[in-house]
Amino acid sequence: MTPPEITWDTLDWTALERLRRGFLAGVGSASAYWQSPADLANYDLTFAQRIAWKWDAVLAELKLRGWVPPPGNVLDWGCGSGVAGRCVLREFGPENFSALRLFDRSSLAMEFATARAKASFPGLTVRSGVPENDRIGLLLLSHVLNELGEPDRAALLQLARRADAVLWVEPGTHADSRALGAMREALLADFTVIAPCTHSAGCGVLTTGNERHWCHNFAAPPAGIMADSHWVRFAQRMGIDLRSLPYSFLVLERTGLRPENQRFAGWTRIVGSPRVYKGFAKVFACEANGVRDLTLQKRDVPELFKRLKNEETVLLTRQTVTGERVATVEATVP
Ligand SMILES: C[S@@+](CC[C@H](N)C(=O)[O-])C[C@H]1O[C@@H](n2cnc3c(N)ncnc32)[C@H](O)[C@@H]1O
Repeated sequence: MTPPEITWDTLDWTALERLRRGFLAGVGSASAYWQSPADLANYDLTFAQRIAWKWDAVLAELKLRGWVPPPGNVLDWGCGSGVAGRCVLREFGPENFSALRLFDRSSLAMEFATARAKASFPGLTVRSGVPENDRIGLLLLSHVLNELGEPDRAALLQLARRADAVLWVEPGTHADSRALGAMREALLADFTVIAPCTHSAGCGVLTTGNERHWCHNFAAPPAGIMADSHWVRFAQRMGIDLRSLPYSFLVLERTGLRPENQRFAGWTRIVGSPRVYKGFAKVFACEANGVRDLTLQKRDVPELFKRLKNEETVLLTRQTVTGERVATVEATVP
């Protein structure tokens, strides 16, 4: 199949609006919302691109953390137009994987994603379907959780237990993030957490008293997006804020597969957006022993305060803390 060519001038707005309703319906959208290859092409140019920007943020963080996937095949489950698989192959190099597998409940989606992947990576073996019973190298999951009822979630956990590593990206909403946190808890017995957490202990956000919190971060859309008339029109018609790309994610590696990288043990992962006030900032900090608000006074840690004030991304910090006040910052990433 050659995927239909869709450009900004030939977008099918009616189809995009129907698809968006389908995504928001979540588990209720039991019937497949992909009705034609053109639906997938419209999605691939627009919604999927925004998802790609989230994947780029996750993959950039994995690079900063010095993690690369184990060798083997890649399975993009619930692949849609296949954007997650393409982002991962582009980042890590198709030569580092034995094959790409694409699976979706929609055969239209599998066909579209297969054609796009073959066009992007001509030398790569691309197949559709889930490999029977074998070990899976890298399992990719992207924006699928809210469409799965309990039986499907349980089956997906069983599938994940066959993988050497799992890369999972979901929208950064309260509900999606906490649902992803529940998947993390279910997989902890077999996996070590690579990111976003710096530990493989229970999730602090899921503990009593932290119900209002959720683990999420914000990806940066490409510079100049607000001056791009195509994207501005798309955002207006779909009711989307272009500047805001909240995501939650989870990266796991089978425990014992490789020696554990201890580089970030004891570090703090900053969750959500820092809140910057006059002379001080507050960050929601995740550590092995739980989550808490930390206060950074400008006079104590002027450099980090300035970076937060300038809205620079700071993901990881190592510091000394007195009470809930950061006394000194020893290192940050980036
Ligand atoms: C919102 S789309 C996301 C597509 C793609 N992963 C992405 O990030 O662009 C969700 C996808 O999950 C698929 N899906 C939903 N329930 C599924 C199930 N039970 N088994 C397999 N695929 C499923 C849908 O057909 C759809 O392609």
